[in-house]
Amino acid sequence: MKITKNARAVLERRYLTRDTHGQLTETVEGLFRRVADAIAAADLNYNSAADVLTTADRFYNMMTELDFLPNSPTLMNAGRPLGQLSACFVLPIPDSMEAIFDGVKNAALIHKSGGGTGFSFSRLRMQGASVNSTGGVASGPVSFMKVFNAATEAVKQGGTRRGANMGILRVDHPDIMSFITCKNDKNELTNFNISVGITEAFMKAVESGSPYNLIDPGTQEITGQLDAKEVFDTIVTSAWQTGEPGIIFLDRLNSNNVVPGQGEIEATNPCGEQPLLPYESCNLGSINLVNHLKLENGCYVLDTDKLAKTIHDAVHFLDNVIDANVYPLDEIERVTKLTRKIGLGVMGFADMLLKLGIPYNSHEGVALGGRIMEMVNTIGHEASMELAEIRGAFPLFEESIFKEGKPLRNATVTTIAPNGTLSIIAGVSSGIEPVFAYAYIRNVMDNTHLIEINETLKARLTDENLYSDQIMEEVAEHGTLADSSALPEALKKVFVCAHDVSPSWHVKMQAEFQKHTDNAVSKTVNFSNTATKQDVAEVYQLAYSLGCKGTTIYRDGSRDGQVLNIGKVN
Ligand code: CDP
Repeated sequence: MKITKNARAVLERRYLTRDTHGQLTETVEGLFRRVADAIAAADLNYNSAADVLTTADRFYNMMTELDFLPNSPTLMNAGRPLGQLSACFVLPIPDSMEAIFDGVKNAALIHKSGGGTGFSFSRLRMQGASVNSTGGVASGPVSFMKVFNAATEAVKQGGTRRGANMGILRVDHPDIMSFITCKNDKNELTNFNISVGITEAFMKAVESGSPYNLIDPGTQEITGQLDAKEVFDTIVTSAWQTGEPGIIFLDRLNSNNVVPGQGEIEATNPCGEQPLLPYESCNLGSINLVNHLKLENGCYVLDTDKLAKTIHDAVHFLDNVIDANVYPLDEIERVTKLTRKIGLGVMGFADMLLKLGIPYNSHEGVALGGRIMEMVNTIGHEASMELAEIRGAFPLFEESIFKEGKPLRNATVTTIAPNGTLSIIAGVSSGIEPVFAYAYIRNVMDNTHLIEINETLKARLTDENLYSDQIMEEVAEHGTLADSSALPEALKKVFVCAHDVSPSWHVKMQAEFQKHTDNAVSKTVNFSNTATKQDVAEVYQLAYSLGCKGTTIYRDGSRDGQVLNIGKVN
C-alpha cells in the first residue's frame, strides 16, 4: 500500500493495535483488513447467504487505494472489543442537576471511545435564577460548560483521541453575552468549540437595527431585550480576537430536519458539520477526489464512472457501520437506528483542482465543486434508495419529510467533514478547504510536528523543470507561491493557498457545497492577521445571505498553538 511517511506515523501512533507491552500487533494493511471484514459482515443481518468475502475485498481495496476512508473511530475500533465507530454525537442537557451530570457521564463514555459530543446549553436556566429545591441561585450555562470541560480534560489522558465538544447557546438566552466572551481567556474551555445559535428573528433585528427579546428557557417569558447589532458586533469582535464563537443558523438546521415530529435540532457535533437530534449519532466517511481523475489526451478529467461506483460502495459501507457499531449508550443506539443518518463527503478537492488547472478562487472552481457535490448527493441518495429496497427504509421514514417519495435507508446521506486526520492518512488537502500552504508545519497530537510539502506542486515544478531547493525554501517560509518571482504567473494563479483566497471566495465555495449537502459543511474562512472586524462582519452576512448553515472564521495568529502554521520549523 502506498502511503506517505506522515500517514504511517499517524497510523502507528494511534490507530494500529498494540499488545499490553505497547508493541504493534498489526500492520497498516492489517488495519484496513480488520475494518473491511468487520463492516462487510453486517451484510449478514439482511442476507444470511451474502457474499461477505467479496464485499470485504471491495471495501478493503477502496480503503487501501485511498479512494474512500471512514471517520477515525471506525478505523480505530472496528473489529475490536470497544467497537465504537462514530465521530459525532449530540446529547441533551435538560435543566436539572441530575440530568446535567448524567450528561457529563455520558459525554465521558463517548470521549473514551473516540467520539465527539455536541450540546445545546440553551435549556439551562440563566445565571442568578432561583433554584427551588435549595433556595439558592443558578450558576448558569457557562459555569456548567466548565464542568464538562474539566471532565473532558480528565478523560483525554486515557482515551484514543482528544475528546472534543461543541457548546451552543441560543442568541435569545439571557446569558448570551457571557457565553459569547467565555473563551476570550485562552485558558478557559479549551476542550470546547463554541457557537451562537442564531435565529432568523435575530438576523432581521440586526438588519433593521432593532432590539430583540431574551427568553427565559423555563417559563418562555421575556426577561429583557438587547440591541441586536450590539450583540452581533460582540460576536464579531470576539471571533476576530480569538476565532470564536462561530455561528450556526438554527432555523436553517430545522428547515432541513427530516423528522420534525421528533423535536427540534438544537446542536451539532464538535466541528459543526453534523446537526443531530438529542442522543443521535452519525458516522462519516470521505471520498478522495484526487483519486477520481483520469487522463484523457494528456489532460486530467473527472472519472465519473469510478466516482459513481465509489459513492455506491461508500453508502453501503456507512450504512453497515450503523449495524456493526457498539454504541456507548442504549438510548443512543435506539435513536440512531430510527433515522440511520450517515455523512458521506469528500476530501482532496483543492488538490483535484490543482491537477485540473482550475483556481479555487474562481467561478469555474466553485461551479465544479457544485457539480461534483451534486453528483455525490444524487448518487448517494440513489444508493440509499437501493439499500432501502432490500433492507427497508429508516424506521421513521413514514413520519419524515420524505414520506411522499421513494423510501430512503438513511435520513441524511451527505456531510462535509473537516478530515483533520483522514486527509493526512490519504495525503491530500482536507475536506473542501484550499491547500493551507504549499509547505508547512502541522502540529498533531501531543506536540508532534509534521512537515508537509504539497505533492502536486512538487510534481508540477519537476515536470516544468522549475523545481529547486531554493524555491521550495522560499515557499516553505511564506507558505504561498504569491511572493516568488521565479515562478510563472499562470502557475501562481492556480496554486493558491488558503490565505491567497479572499474570505468571500471561501464563503462562496462553502455555500455551493452546502446546496448539495444534506447536513452541513465544515469550513474555516481564513483571514490574514491584518483583517478588520468589518471584514469578519461582512463574511458573517455573506454566509447568511448565501444560505450557509453556519460559519467559522480564523484570523491568522489570533490564537496560540494554532493547528496549522506557515513557516519553517526552528
Ligand atoms: O479525520 P477524522 O476522521 O479524524 O475527523 P474529522 O473529519 O477531523 O472530524 C470529524 C468529527 O470527528 C468532528 O466534527 C468531531 O465530531 C469528531 N472529532 C472528535 O471528536 N475529536 C477529535 N479530536 C477530532 C474529531
